[in-house]
Amino acid sequence: MTAVRTPVAIVGAGPAGLLLSHLLASSGIASLVVDARSRAEIETTIRAGILEQGTVDLLVETGASTRVLTDGRRHDGIELRFDGEGHRIDFPALTGRSVWLYPQHEVLADLIATRLADGQDLRFGTRIETVDTTDPARPRLTGTDAEGRPVEIEADMVVGADGSRSVVRAALGGSAAGSFREYPFAWFGILCEAPPSADELIYSHAPEGFALISQRSATVQRMYFQCDPGADPDALSEREIWDRLQARVPGTVLKEGPIFQRDVLRFRSFVAGELRRGRVALIGDAAHTVPPTGAKGMNLAVADVVLLHRALEALLHRRDERPLDAFGETALRRIWKAQHFSWWMTSMLHSTPEATAFDRERQRAELRSIVESEAGRAYLAEAYTGWPFETRVG
Ligand code: DHB
Repeated sequence: MTAVRTPVAIVGAGPAGLLLSHLLASSGIASLVVDARSRAEIETTIRAGILEQGTVDLLVETGASTRVLTDGRRHDGIELRFDGEGHRIDFPALTGRSVWLYPQHEVLADLIATRLADGQDLRFGTRIETVDTTDPARPRLTGTDAEGRPVEIEADMVVGADGSRSVVRAALGGSAAGSFREYPFAWFGILCEAPPSADELIYSHAPEGFALISQRSATVQRMYFQCDPGADPDALSEREIWDRLQARVPGTVLKEGPIFQRDVLRFRSFVAGELRRGRVALIGDAAHTVPPTGAKGMNLAVADVVLLHRALEALLHRRDERPLDAFGETALRRIWKAQHFSWWMTSMLHSTPEATAFDRERQRAELRSIVESEAGRAYLAEAYTGWPFETRVG
């Protein structure tokens, strides 16, 4: 068997891997992208829906997606609700920035179409099993293609963009080398056919637990409520789901409609021990996962890509290793800020079973401290709309 050779082998055709291949191509650097899933599976899996301003600007400026501007919707704020009262966080007034509601699977459909039109070597159904770094300058991947034939890929650089169960991570010490935190709750998520119940997203803290009223389009809505991590998504009737959601957003009458998808999302905070070792790097969920509150996951992947793109340009065009040497440390600064923000939003808004009366009063005071202070609202708005991308590497 002969090995395929490529400058950059990217494992994972999610937002991180596809965007990286797109930016590399714009710098004249060829790559090979493989993913164990089929194209249809990638394009239809429901994920989060909020893009930071910087993510949208990048997608549009680089030609990765223009549909985000026509089919997506700009959101200029969110509402924090507690004690039965809503408090709007006005993003443009506080930061001059906004976010966009545009589902991740649409971003993926745009990226896949753009990459294929550009002639990208993009192989679905190809499962990578091992990363061999015996020759540190030329890592090799082995696995199986869509027809079950063995594949071998040799590259100047291997990038693990293969999600939270990353195979590539094994070449950097594996999951055990990272730091992580579990949470005693999860989200019960639904997609339903109904008009939006509110103009903007509602993050609601209620004694029964947290709820998030999000949206997808004029006719499809996404909503979540806090549940037990072991909850069975099929155990509740539609009526019970609506009653639980409604109890958690007092003050808004939810617009109900047929529920056509339901899932339980477990929460985890994780940061890999190393983001780069030799000629292997990790980006996106392979490098870190955040709990969903605050919608940082995909946006954080985009920030990793911006940095790694610059590092690979320096390496492959100028043989300058310094930006790659600095990649991990630079990326981790934003990653840990996003970890903190996601943890903070999560802990501020959810109810924990073991909370004491003190804990509950402190939590309500924390919410009041934020909404009653312009500095508090501004911190939330800055983090939610996204800190400027770091482009200085090394
Ligand atoms: C969505 C998910 C989030 O985690 C969030 O904070 C906002 C929106 C969503 O799926 O729409």
